[in-house]
Amino acid sequence: MKKALKITVIVLAVAFIVLQFFRIDTTAPVTNPADTLAATTDVPPDISLILGRSCDDCHTNNTRYPWYAQIQPTAWFLKNHIDDGRRHLNFSIWNSYDDKKKAKKLDEVCEEVQSGEMPLPSYLWIHHDAVLNEGEKKALCAWSQEAAKKLDKADK
Ligand code: HEC
Repeated sequence: MKKALKITVIVLAVAFIVLQFFRIDTTAPVTNPADTLAATTDVPPDISLILGRSCDDCHTNNTRYPWYAQIQPTAWFLKNHIDDGRRHLNFSIWNSYDDKKKAKKLDEVCEEVQSGEMPLPSYLWIHHDAVLNEGEKKALCAWSQEAAKKLDKADK
């Protein structure tokens, strides 16, 4: 029995070491400064702070990778969220969206935050500073809805 346990531990340790060779790519995609949300939309400083603290890691090209992004398999879990987050909404390529898409995404910002779906709960386990209080959620909603309205008007 003891021997079986020993072999299991060795096999797991070797497997863990082998996993370490499959690192994630943490190079930031190239951003055109003229295409960012900040360059094309009025973002007041308090909103910019909220987005930077709670959303930018998954919704811009400027992800700040934590130390455990160097350790597999947690890195894969992280990478998956970042890729998926950017695919759905990327403030770094904001201007590549047409007005209709921008307005829709802005409306969704409010919905996702109010429903507690964003920031992703698994992110908040570790990033306690990314938790939004009611006042911050309200401010984010007021801003995103206003910005969406402006776009809708501009379209008509
Ligand atoms: C840890 C990564 C992560 C963080 C942090 C995060 N998101 Fe997301 N977000 C995702 C992922 C992954 C998806 C796509 C899957 C889903 O909808 O659950 C997503 C989807 C969204 C969508 C939906 C877009 C669509 O097309 O359906 C919105 C809107 C959104 N996030 C807003 C935010 C806002 C606002 C914040 C900050 C308050 C935030 N997210 C923080 C990962 C993240």
